[in-house]
Amino acid sequence: MALSTSASSTTALITAFLLLLRLSSALKDSGSDKLPKSDVDLLEFPLNLEYFEAEFFSWGALGGGLDTFAPNLTMGGPSPIGARKARLSPHIKDIIAQFALQEFGHLRAIQKTVPGFPRPLLNLSAESFATVMNNAFEKPLQPSFDPYANDINYLLASYVIPYVGLTGYVGANPKLKSPTSKRLVAGLLGVESGQDAVLRTLLYQRAFVKVYPYEFTVAEFTDRISSLRNKLGKKGLKDEGLIVKPVQGAEGRISGNVLAGDQDSLSFDRTPEEILRIVYGSGNENQPGGFYPKGGDGRIAKSHLRRQIRNF
Ligand SMILES: *[C@@H]1O[C@H](CO)[C@@H](O)[C@H](O)[C@H]1NC(C)=O
Ligand SMILES: *[C@@H]1O[C@H](CO)[C@@H](O)[C@H](O)[C@H]1NC(C)=O
Repeated sequence: MALSTSASSTTALITAFLLLLRLSSALKDSGSDKLPKSDVDLLEFPLNLEYFEAEFFSWGALGGGLDTFAPNLTMGGPSPIGARKARLSPHIKDIIAQFALQEFGHLRAIQKTVPGFPRPLLNLSAESFATVMNNAFEKPLQPSFDPYANDINYLLASYVIPYVGLTGYVGANPKLKSPTSKRLVAGLLGVESGQDAVLRTLLYQRAFVKVYPYEFTVAEFTDRISSLRNKLGKKGLKDEGLIVKPVQGAEGRISGNVLAGDQDSLSFDRTPEEILRIVYGSGNENQPGGFYPKGGDGRIAKSHLRRQIRNF
């Protein structure tokens, strides 16, 4: 008797459990479960860069990052290393604060669409940016470059990574299958290119100003950073500074280059592998470093990290 009661209540429990499972999978169908696996991977990958941008802009303008202003967007990932409030004029600070909040929205939009992953460890220390600049100039700048020192330095530091994310969205778009994914990436790309245009315009207005106390102008810095990214990405010319040879400008006939583009003035595209080579600073998607001491997250970045471990 006791046995049959417990058996029937077990059956009832199992039935209820199965019903719940079906219900929860029906609910999930409205989200990422409907997306092809390849779309999920391609939508998760840019979280690596969006976390970087959210933290760098938020710290630069507001003196605190996701932990302070939007803790649950971190999904529990570690706090960035070395991020600081930058010394910015009110105008630049206002613009960067807007960028920071836009990035919070981008993180939320991606996390709503795909499962996502926690914020990866980010090294946003002044030394991390100084290393990029030293590599760009192929010699150590003296004194070492401080991204947080003033408007110009901060804008130049902002030139380093966000554009790479933009090329990633252009590269991802033709590989996406679902209209939901394409809509999301178009929306992200629109605002990311807007940010890039604002940053480039602000720098273009200062193109011939020397970056104190160095002997190089703002335009030379952008040219060096772009060349470094081309070198690390290993896929030819996908990056151009603010002043170029006329043949590289729009229609091959103008040297001002406030926006970067190919021969038809279309945005350049990059694959996740090219992006990892650049943001790791190593020229190798299997070898993390630079701004990502432990590498990126998500299936694509992780697959290359596993390869690295096997190689050892
Ligand atoms: C995010 O944080 C807010 C409080 O700031 C909380 O009400 C909300 O439930 C959290 N959302 C998630 C998805 O954890
Ligand atoms: C952050 O980057 C700088 C410059 O590459 C490096 O010296 C420092 O050790 C890094 N910090 C961590 C915790 O990886």
